[in-house]
Amino acid sequence: MHGKFIVFEGLDGSGKSTQAELLKESFEEQGLKVFLTKECTDGPIGTLLRKEYLSGHRKVNEAIINVLMAADRIEHVDEINQHLEAGDIVISDRYVLSGFAYNTYMDPTFDRLTDTYNMNRLAITKCQPDLTLFLDVDPTICIDRINSRPGNHEVYETLDKLERIRKAYFKTFDFFNCGYFYDDDRDKNVRINMHVKTITCNDMNPDKIRYIIWRIARNILNNHG
Ligand SMILES: Nc1ncnc2c1ncn2[C@@H]1O[C@H](COP(=O)(O)OP(=O)(O)OP(=O)(O)O)[C@@H](O)[C@H]1O
Ligand SMILES: [Mg+2]
Repeated sequence: MHGKFIVFEGLDGSGKSTQAELLKESFEEQGLKVFLTKECTDGPIGTLLRKEYLSGHRKVNEAIINVLMAADRIEHVDEINQHLEAGDIVISDRYVLSGFAYNTYMDPTFDRLTDTYNMNRLAITKCQPDLTLFLDVDPTICIDRINSRPGNHEVYETLDKLERIRKAYFKTFDFFNCGYFYDDDRDKNVRINMHVKTITCNDMNPDKIRYIIWRIARNILNNHG
């Protein structure tokens, strides 16, 4: 029996971690084993990213951030696959589509998307989500939430960047839905379905969002052994 892989995507402060935890509870209430995970991971590369780069401790170099995120993901995908092979439901707070949004938000062009595909090719070909839940929240609401939580802000947590990242997410979804990626390694065009469902959350309360998500996510149990 192979498990199922569900990913949460969205802006900083959109409620991914909150809903990932709630979805884990819902599956566990059905007696299923869940592995909840996130990107950046707590592995060596993810830790370096958070501590040195996302915190702004080191001068921001987004090329380095994006390469490190992709490298962190390569380690992550092996761990995800181990759990899927064991039959678990794997829920990840961010995955490949975050890589696209963050690598293309300043330059959301076809070439840049294609480059991002090739940067993430290993993870994409090894493991694709059965369901991606994009929590769409207005960037101004995200910023309010970020500002009201304690601790330091990460480098992407400004209104201008969040607005751009949101647009880059939608470009990425269009690209996956309508387009083909040129895979340098295989020397051919490939088409990949990330099974994205957008949930317009804005200021909807967490329980209502949980209910909407559960109605979507429980369907993947129908063919879960
Ligand atoms: N639907 C909601 N309505 C109001 N507040 C919410 C809602 N969902 C989450 N929050 C609150 O907003 C803040 C951000 O939520 P959360 O940490 O789940 O977001 P996130 O997407 O994981 O953010 P990040 O990407 O920065 O980790 C938290 O303080 C959380 O309690
Ligand atoms: Mg979070």
